[in-house]
Amino acid sequence: MKTTDTVIVTGGGGFIGSKLVEKLIISGKKVIVIDNFSTGKIKNLSKVISEIELINEDIGNFSLQSRLKKYKNSVQKFFHLAALPRIERSITETKETHSSNVHGIFGALELAKFLGVKKFIYTSSSSVYGNQKKNPLNENLKPNPLNPYAAQKLIGEMYCDIYSKVFGIPVVTLRLFNVYGHGMDGKGAYKLVFMKWIEQMNKKEPLTIYDDGKQTRDFTHITDVISAFLKAMEFKQKNMHEIINIGSGRQVTINYLAELFKGKTIHLESRKFEERFKQADIKKAKRLLSYTPLVTIEEGVAKLLKIK
Ligand SMILES: NC(=O)c1ccc[n+]([C@@H]2O[C@H](COP(=O)([O-])OP(=O)(O)OC[C@H]3O[C@@H](n4cnc5c(N)ncnc54)[C@H](O)[C@@H]3O)[C@@H](O)[C@H]2O)c1
Repeated sequence: MKTTDTVIVTGGGGFIGSKLVEKLIISGKKVIVIDNFSTGKIKNLSKVISEIELINEDIGNFSLQSRLKKYKNSVQKFFHLAALPRIERSITETKETHSSNVHGIFGALELAKFLGVKKFIYTSSSSVYGNQKKNPLNENLKPNPLNPYAAQKLIGEMYCDIYSKVFGIPVVTLRLFNVYGHGMDGKGAYKLVFMKWIEQMNKKEPLTIYDDGKQTRDFTHITDVISAFLKAMEFKQKNMHEIINIGSGRQVTINYLAELFKGKTIHLESRKFEERFKQADIKKAKRLLSYTPLVTIEEGVAKLLKIK
């Protein structure tokens, strides 16, 4: 008889995590979601709520080990997405973000070690690169974090490296480049540019652009990101820790992005501690995961504006 694979998704109530959970359920996995709902929402999981085991807890809480001990040696994959994202938040809420992003990865790796998981997938960020002389950014460049969020994500990568080597947990780290798409959080002080602009359009206000707008980002559609997670789950890795960029492979300026929104714009003073140019080199993702991004920024924005 075929047994069902059990997987853990931390941060499963968030934007990216909830879409991943839906796909894992469709593919027949038993999914345990750990989330403290600090930024995530139960309603993000409404399609799958009756099919998942939901644990409303902070990932840094070591009592999770005794709560989940019945799953010892039976969890195949552990996806760690729980974090307090956004650069601005990490500057204004240093303690909270350190707790979720640094103590959080430690708690997640300790839980994975305790349970004897077969693979750990860590969600890192392109922010770890900071400013570089080279662009596109490839995984061999020396990280150069410019803000607490980037440093926290990089500490997470270092912990993953150590746990893979010292405790023998195979890890795949995905460095995600600016993820967008349906389901992004549209509320609160730290919403992403897309949601801020949609709000400004609805209020007939101009779209705000920091700096001259010539800075670039590599915007990656949520469906491409989820496909990368699923490929990382199946990937038969040779090295104990692989770090892989997940982006669209194309950079666009913020001014070009605003053109796609077809609104009037105003420019604000530049934000400090953010990088100027960002494009993912996705050769490694193509080679190791057969990852191919399918959604262009033009298609992704058009979809988003249709359902806003
Ligand atoms: N969205 C992006 O553009 C992007 C880019 C690079 C990396 N990432 C990373 O991807 C992951 C998911 O990001 P997202 O955009 O879905 O964010 P999100 O805020 O929507 O989701 C994060 C989830 O983690 C939960 N969480 C936070 N702290 C927790 C804790 N201590 N214990 C348990 N749960 C906790 C939140 O409640 C939320 O459900 C994060 O690790 C983020 O750093 C995101």
